[in-house]
Amino acid sequence: MMTSLVRRLKGRSPAEIVRLVAHNIAYHAREMTPRARARDRQFQAFDQTWGTDTFAIRELHTLEVDPSVAAHARRYQSSNGADMPVWFAELGVDFGRTVFIDYGCGKGRALLEAARFGFHRVIGVEFAPELAKIALANRDIVQAKGGLVAPIEVVCMDARKYVPPNDVPLLCYFYDPFDDAVMAPVAERLCALTQPVTIIYLEPNCADQFRRRGGWSESRSAGTLVLRNAAALAA
Ligand SMILES: C[S@@+](CC[C@H](N)C(=O)[O-])C[C@H]1O[C@@H](n2cnc3c(N)ncnc32)[C@H](O)[C@@H]1O
Repeated sequence: MMTSLVRRLKGRSPAEIVRLVAHNIAYHAREMTPRARARDRQFQAFDQTWGTDTFAIRELHTLEVDPSVAAHARRYQSSNGADMPVWFAELGVDFGRTVFIDYGCGKGRALLEAARFGFHRVIGVEFAPELAKIALANRDIVQAKGGLVAPIEVVCMDARKYVPPNDVPLLCYFYDPFDDAVMAPVAERLCALTQPVTIIYLEPNCADQFRRRGGWSESRSAGTLVLRNAAALAA
């Protein structure tokens, strides 16, 4: 624990250390609220029901990963898909034709939630081999229990190198997976696509990568940022 603390504080100025400590205190205070605890119970109920491993957070320094990619990555923390029915209904998703892609899928919780809907394909992209392996194991567990309607694939690679399908409507899901250094080339690829592309972006810290390239209409669904290209709007 001490080694990890020293590693995180190394090279930081006193002002940065104060900011980091304040951020951590605020984070832990928020995690103690009744709302946060209720959320955690809901997350854990999923794992208890299915026998999966999706809830536990994984800090990047506990994973064997390429440090040059990890430098731009957020840790693994799952989203719960609670708003998916609202998003998909409001967007009028044509499940049979659409491919759902979770950029930075981690242990695959969002994939498992999305695959309860009849997507054409559900794809997770994850750079940490251990997390990708857990996502596949989770997929197998839920599939064996009949909990999936759509097929799930997991590709283990840096999202910068992932080439999405270019011949089907895409629903791309981002839960604050990485910083601008990764989002810039990812946005570049998505901007070049001509088929309908919709982006659902939780904690959209790099949304400017899409805004500055243009061509996206912006809205909110259940409070979450949604971006749609011209083909998605016309569909
Ligand atoms: C906040 S978690 C989101 C997990 C998942 N999307 C969900 O909603 O449950 C961010 C994930 O993005 C992954 N990630 C970060 N940088 C990446 C990159 N360059 N390529 C692929 N995955 C990345 C992390 O390893 C982590 O699992």
